[in-house]
Amino acid sequence: MSSTDSITLTRPDDWHLHVRDGEPMRTVVPHTAAQFARAIIMPNLREPVTTTAQALAYRDRILAAVPAGTDFEPLMTLYLTDNLQPEEIRRAKAAGIVACKLYPAGATTNSDAGVTSLGKIYPVFEAMQREGLLLLVHGESTAPGVDVFDREAVFIDSQLIPLRRDFPALKIVFEHITTREAAHYVRDAGALTAATITAHHLLYNRNAIFTGGLRPHYYCLPVLKREVHRLALVEAATRGGARYFLGTDSAPHPAHLKEHASGCAGCYTAHAAMEMYAEAFDAAGALDRLEAFASFNGPDFYGLPRNTGRITLRRESWTPPAAFPFGDAELKPLRHGETLPWRKA
Ligand code: NCD
Ligand code: ZN
Repeated sequence: MSSTDSITLTRPDDWHLHVRDGEPMRTVVPHTAAQFARAIIMPNLREPVTTTAQALAYRDRILAAVPAGTDFEPLMTLYLTDNLQPEEIRRAKAAGIVACKLYPAGATTNSDAGVTSLGKIYPVFEAMQREGLLLLVHGESTAPGVDVFDREAVFIDSQLIPLRRDFPALKIVFEHITTREAAHYVRDAGALTAATITAHHLLYNRNAIFTGGLRPHYYCLPVLKREVHRLALVEAATRGGARYFLGTDSAPHPAHLKEHASGCAGCYTAHAAMEMYAEAFDAAGALDRLEAFASFNGPDFYGLPRNTGRITLRRESWTPPAAFPFGDAELKPLRHGETLPWRKA
């Protein structure tokens, strides 16, 4: 095999992941733990994770779903609401919680309890800045009338720029960026602003949602954008430097709720996450940049140690299963029934 038919990397981390709760975790947690040493666990459960006590209990339930003999560390986050108190931030820090997630109310799945106006929680941002918790942002404007494809760009101008200015020492991760505007904003926003990028936003543009009919498994939020944006994300991930890193936003939903008149947003990619990132980096001629993006930039930004283990990916085509069990339902992974060109050894 030539060197480009196989790559070995420091074990990566997933800096943006949904694992849900209960029985479905038996499927999705092992998929992630097989690839990643750590993952930032999103707190948007049906009853959001808003207290340190809830986060620690959730962490225990996740650990119970990790297969014996696999090392995996869930990194916990709190869900910001209008009512979260600054004292909770100190408790969270003391308990090892690393970040808080900002969902503008109504922006995405289980975001109804999210923040209605950033000004309401300035004391919480102050406490986070003081304690050194990161702020993870779902960056989409929910203002009525904003076109769904423009929500990210509008959020930058109307919310993120003022927030960044008012809390200059707060580490901010702009989650799952999807546009050229977001990639460029992060590039120009200084050392304490970073972004995660999903595999599906590197591989697909919005045509994927409509090719041959409406394809709900390609629907996520923020929604896939035009090709010009995908190209800007590929450029950022492969050549943009240390403040862009891997976050799958793997977001499992029961298949019957995605294949539905009002289908849920979220692409499930944890079953083949590194394979899809390798495909995207390979297509850009940048496989040599994958390790920094997947394994170094995230821990460096979070101020955590890099992992020591290794994983190997080989050029070998394979087909993911049509579906996985998901509690009483089925989970259809992205690319089910299609071939993938890279495979984890
Ligand atoms: C996520 C989910 O289902 O929890 N959905 C998605 O489309 N990405 C929520 C989110 O990250 O926006
Ligand atoms: Zn997400």
